[in-house]
Amino acid sequence: MRSPPKKRGRKIAPLAIAARLNARVMLEAQADGSIAACFDGYSAGLGKFSADAIDRAQGLRAGLPFDRFARGSGNADEEIDLMVRRLGRRGLLEYRLGDRSGKKDRVVIEPQLADYWPQASKLSASDTIVLSRFAYLRRRGNDMILESPRAGALFKVCDSKIAGAIAALAAPQKISRLRRQAGFPGMELLGLLVDSKILFKIGGGDGRRASEGDENLVLWDFHDLLFHTHSTEGRQANPLGGLYPYADVIAPPPAVRPHWPGKNIDLKPFSVAAAETISPYAKLVRQRHSIREFDDQQPITLTELAKFLESTARVQSHWTSKLDFDGDGPDIDYTTRPYPAAGSAYELELYLAVANCEGLERGFYHYDADQHALAPIGAGAPELGLLFQGAEYAMDVAAPPQILITIAARFNRISWKYSAIAYSLILKDVGVLIGMLYMMATDMGLGGCAIGTSNIDLFAKMTGIDFHIEGPVGQFALGRGAKPA
Ligand SMILES: Cc1cc2nc3c(=O)[nH]c(=O)nc-3n(C[C@H](O)[C@H](O)[C@H](O)COP(=O)(O)O)c2cc1C
Repeated sequence: MRSPPKKRGRKIAPLAIAARLNARVMLEAQADGSIAACFDGYSAGLGKFSADAIDRAQGLRAGLPFDRFARGSGNADEEIDLMVRRLGRRGLLEYRLGDRSGKKDRVVIEPQLADYWPQASKLSASDTIVLSRFAYLRRRGNDMILESPRAGALFKVCDSKIAGAIAALAAPQKISRLRRQAGFPGMELLGLLVDSKILFKIGGGDGRRASEGDENLVLWDFHDLLFHTHSTEGRQANPLGGLYPYADVIAPPPAVRPHWPGKNIDLKPFSVAAAETISPYAKLVRQRHSIREFDDQQPITLTELAKFLESTARVQSHWTSKLDFDGDGPDIDYTTRPYPAAGSAYELELYLAVANCEGLERGFYHYDADQHALAPIGAGAPELGLLFQGAEYAMDVAAPPQILITIAARFNRISWKYSAIAYSLILKDVGVLIGMLYMMATDMGLGGCAIGTSNIDLFAKMTGIDFHIEGPVGQFALGRGAKPA
């Protein structure tokens, strides 16, 4: 008797990748062949193209399959490839994975990094893959989103079978086995997810923390890395900052907390009566305010900057303490500095973007708090310009600060010790240091302003340091304040 044929699970048809315009983007062609992308009231020129290419570009509304234009695809179309890359660099594209008919999206890739370009990592049948511990699925509106703070893009999963297949990758799976299973989503998608670090290949390891990345990554807790990437600019495409997103639906919360019921103990009778009787420090506290515009005819000098840094951030002494693991722990080095810091870790580093300082060239520097010296960092002029632009935008002013201080954290210095609270401690330390910078600037007759945003991708480009190793967590603008008009 013939044995019955083996039952095979239903496979998902191979997925093709296509570039598609964001819903909010329109392409507008001029008579001279120049084409512009119009979105949110802006217009971005994309260059001149032939009439044929402009015609083919209309396909970008529904999605143009990569194998019809991409370099190395056999059907290379240089003009469309160029146009697609220019659109991609401006964050105006998404990429759909679906069947060739183009009717149904299975997965839509939304770039989060400005220079994201979809490319599938090479995988072979003998590879074993597993989900990153930083990857998660969540609901956004009516969509299911697969994302990770390590990924350059998020993946909108439009097919529950694909979501199921991804969930099965919580445990390491060999590709040769996966391929035989129902709902196998195809090598293309798996390769794209590996490229985005949502999945990773494991060699000898077991798929746990230590096999995913370097020591610096091991030390990050999931919620901390997510918090870092989603509360800063550079690695997410969400709008951020003072956007008042609920102003239409929720009344502004009051400036002062409503009183607790019951009888108050009045403190006003104890208030300092005359300004002369208050301490010099209390006077300084009263004087302190934010200054966003600076006197570029009379910039801060290198002498003043040196004094400012010495008084706020210089290492004052070193000491060592043994970690008491039954007398068997390592010696840990510590420093003493002017401001308090969680666990005496002093994980914060100051980087100075100098626009106008007498005696110091325009450029980007690290403040070596131990040597009390500035180390020039050869960051490019365009990146320096972008950093200043971000500060101008955040302070709503037309000129850069004379000095823009980026407060960066050496994350491992604090996460080596603290579980679950590491990132929150870093942000608290930033607040403490910013308070110190404000007070010293006031004391020296200088001006300054905290800035609530920072771009972690830009900093990574300027320093060449991976975003999870050291990165910006705060900014402070410094200079000699402009005289009141
Ligand atoms: C954490 C923090 C973030 C801030 N971010 C910004 C900012 O991005 N742009 C800005 O113009 N001011 C910023 N400020 C300054 C505040 O707007 C300012 O401190 C507040 O309006 C009170 O004014 P004062 O500092 O003059 O007393 C920030 C202040 C803090 C403490």
